Amino acid sequence: MILKVVTSNPGKVEEFAEAFAGLGIGFEHVRISYGEPQVSTLEEVVEAGIRELRAKGLSDFLIDDSGMFVDHLRGFPGVYSSYVQKTIGNDGILRLMEGVSDRSAHFRCCIGCCIGGETIIVTGVSPGSVLCEPMGRGGFGYDPIFSPDGKRSFAEMPLEDKNVISHRGRAIGLLMKELKRKGLI
Ligand code: IMP
Repeated sequence: MILKVVTSNPGKVEEFAEAFAGLGIGFEHVRISYGEPQVSTLEEVVEAGIRELRAKGLSDFLIDDSGMFVDHLRGFPGVYSSYVQKTIGNDGILRLMEGVSDRSAHFRCCIGCCIGGETIIVTGVSPGSVLCEPMGRGGFGYDPIFSPDGKRSFAEMPLEDKNVISHRGRAIGLLMKELKRKGLI
């Protein structure tokens, strides 16, 4: 089986490629844009994306919508993570968090997968905290300012380590379990 991973984010492509290689699943990167409506959950974004891509005739594919949710900021940037990363960026988040002692946050990754006429939607969560300054040069997006364990940022971890505990790695694990349960792989 070959799953098409529909994304324009090279960081996500690398993570899916690494995870799928370990699982023995064929992988094809596909770039097709789809709308990301202003809704209140990642799951709603994924459901709308799946509807649009199916209507375009695509099959055996997955999409991923992710975000970082900061407790002190009442879940911001959350579903707005993409816009916020492009506008105020990591420095902007760090400014909003200046002097704040409760730095707890979590990442969520919602994956929607369409395969053999079935649709599966799963969400993986990775708890952690917002660092006081960027650390590390790897990864992408919010990786340099997010730490899952208070020691290393995601940007300081080798990809295979991040995939074991990350929101995306966990969502991929849940997806594989569901695909096996339904006898699709
Ligand atoms: P989207 O899922 O592509 O809409 O991503 C939303 C925003 O969160 C983008 O700015 C991504 O760079 C960022 N993002 C998504 N996943 C991760 C991750 O695993 N680490 C760091 N940033 C991420």
